[in-house]
Amino acid sequence: MSIVEKAAEKLKALPPEAQAPKLAAHEESETHPAAAVPASTRAASTVERLQERARTTEQSVEVVPPWHIDRVALKRMGLVPADAAAERRLADELRGVKRPLLANATDKGAAPIAHAKRIMVTSAEPSEGKTFTAVNLALSLAREADFEVLLVDGDIPKSDITRVFGLGGQPGLMDVLADEKLAPSDVVIQTDVPNLLVVPAGQQNPLAAELFRSRRMEHVFEEFGGRHRRRLLVFDSSPLLATPESQVLASHMGQVVMVVAAGRTGRQAVASALEKVSDLPYVGLVLNKSSLPAAMGYYGSQSHYLKALKGGA
Ligand SMILES: Nc1ncnc2c1ncn2[C@@H]1O[C@H](COP(=O)(O)OP(=O)(O)OP(=O)(O)O)[C@@H](O)[C@H]1O
Ligand SMILES: [Mg+2]
Repeated sequence: MSIVEKAAEKLKALPPEAQAPKLAAHEESETHPAAAVPASTRAASTVERLQERARTTEQSVEVVPPWHIDRVALKRMGLVPADAAAERRLADELRGVKRPLLANATDKGAAPIAHAKRIMVTSAEPSEGKTFTAVNLALSLAREADFEVLLVDGDIPKSDITRVFGLGGQPGLMDVLADEKLAPSDVVIQTDVPNLLVVPAGQQNPLAAELFRSRRMEHVFEEFGGRHRRRLLVFDSSPLLATPESQVLASHMGQVVMVVAAGRTGRQAVASALEKVSDLPYVGLVLNKSSLPAAMGYYGSQSHYLKALKGGA
């Protein structure tokens, strides 16, 4: 119940004579004509006014316009494909990436996976394409019928999702972890892309790794996803071999997409990164920036999955 509604309830409970201040006879008839109305009627209209204000306040919370996602700016920053042909190719390639993720998220995979709706995009080293993959995977999943996607900026040091979506300065993940008075829903931003919500990184915090390890983290993730049956959480993250927090973040996930920059990241680095997430039930490996012929795709279609690689590679 809001403060205004509580005040209205209290006012209702008071005896009529206490509900409106007593005015002297001359004030009632001259300076305050409305006060000539019986006290109980005045009180009722005060209650109505308070209730109306409560309704207006609630409505004003609901009508916050969705956050505009500027696709032109995203293109300029190289975060979405530059033209329609590249967009179609990427869409095809991402289909192969998201199929097993969706199967697991809907319990249609080989075995049930705890927290399968939490998907973290990561890599061994910087600049392998994590943010590109997280953004395009989230957009692609948001186009799936019956799903909505909450894209969380879990790369606290770089916070590229926050930057490219123009969300700098907005409260986000760090704030809700550090301040128990904030509700997880307070940092969830509805966007104007259908079925896409975003959580920015929030204020930089030197205790990021400790906050990621806290019990509050699990509570916050439960609240981000738990009550929403069709909501998928997609996390961008920092490189697994570069910061401690991405490994901690991974421990809260059900599924991991490991992006590997083709021809650049060494086998040893990939093996070390895979080792750090080896406890997770599902790790998909995606080969990015592949130099294979364009007809075979630049991204994604060359993806392999760890389960398959374990045997043969
Ligand atoms: N498949 C792709 N197609 C086109 N451009 C891509 C692709 N993958 C990555 N890029 C480009 O490569 C650059 C690095 O990608 P991105 O920022 O996604 O990497 P990152 O792993 O998130 O880096 P960091 O570790 O610094 O956060 C970006 O300019 C991005 O536009
Ligand atoms: Mg990034």
